[in-house]
Amino acid sequence: MSTTPQLSQLFERGMSYPDFEAQERLSRLVGLDGHISRLSKMLGMLINSSGLESWANKHHPDATQIVNMILRRPPLIVLAGDVGSGKSELAETIGDAVARQEDIDISLLPLSLSSRGQGRVGEMTQLVSNAFDHAVSEAQKLKTESGVSRGGIILLIDEADALAQSREAAQMHHEDRAGVNAFIRGIDRIANAKLPAVVIMCTNRINALDPAIKRRAADILEFSRPNDDQRLAVLSEPLTQLGLSSTQILDIVKVTGPTLGREYGFTFSDLTQRLMPAIVLDAYPDRAITAEGALEIARDIVPTPPFQEQTA
Ligand SMILES: Nc1ncnc2c1ncn2[C@@H]1O[C@H](COP(=O)(O)OP(=O)(O)OP(=O)(O)O)[C@@H](O)[C@H]1O
Ligand SMILES: [Mg+2]
Repeated sequence: MSTTPQLSQLFERGMSYPDFEAQERLSRLVGLDGHISRLSKMLGMLINSSGLESWANKHHPDATQIVNMILRRPPLIVLAGDVGSGKSELAETIGDAVARQEDIDISLLPLSLSSRGQGRVGEMTQLVSNAFDHAVSEAQKLKTESGVSRGGIILLIDEADALAQSREAAQMHHEDRAGVNAFIRGIDRIANAKLPAVVIMCTNRINALDPAIKRRAADILEFSRPNDDQRLAVLSEPLTQLGLSSTQILDIVKVTGPTLGREYGFTFSDLTQRLMPAIVLDAYPDRAITAEGALEIARDIVPTPPFQEQTA
């Protein structure tokens, strides 16, 4: 049996940047400007250390210690938080911003663990090890002696909940623990070889993150449900195009927020992937959409409940 799986089996929808479509998807994300600028700076530093070094040479030529500390950080960034809040969307598109900012090509290797690695014993560990092997060998080709990278690799471990779980959790199966260890080994390999590669991990379960993973994270960015302004930003343009007035849109913004007897409002994805299609389906194919109809549908939809730590 061959131990090297086909790349097509390992990664789904690989992408390379700059990419116009990714740029557009990134620009459509609402309320994440802070995360976007922080993440692109951090990825830039981790992938292309020459940028940080020339900044330091210019402003703090004696500050070798702090530059080394930053360069030696494990190249892991965790995106954590509520469902449908833009984690995957940001992880899949941020490469475009980094590619443009650093003026290099970036490749995304996306590994989703959601429906994977739950079968045969050892499968999760093997999957994670293979993903890192491939990322490391690709990144080695891009490394130069001068620190000016020829390109960069983003290894995306999406839906990482199963993997991210604390090794201390009593119910955790031996196999899961081996998966976490393989992950930690992979991160350390990239860090020790100072390769132009970073790992982005997405998880719903921030509180269950393994302490050894948490410790290695250069940053943990948290994601949450949209507030009133953010729901307005998502809804405003499409509903205006349908002929709704700003007052009518504000009514919908209100009923999609937390209400009496319900502490949580709609997620971003509840708005884009459930509410909008439901409004269209209600009117299609015989009628036009009305403000009253749209408001009623918004009232009827029950938002996705927040992720419960204990249900896993
Ligand atoms: N900040 C946002 N601004 C605008 N739309 C958003 C935002 N976040 C999510 N969406 C919409 O919701 C969809 C789902 O988002 P995404 O897949 O990134 O969620 P997620 O955080 O990865 O959720 P999960 O934890 O369930 O995987 C996106 O394709 C987009 O349409
Ligand atoms: Mg996701």
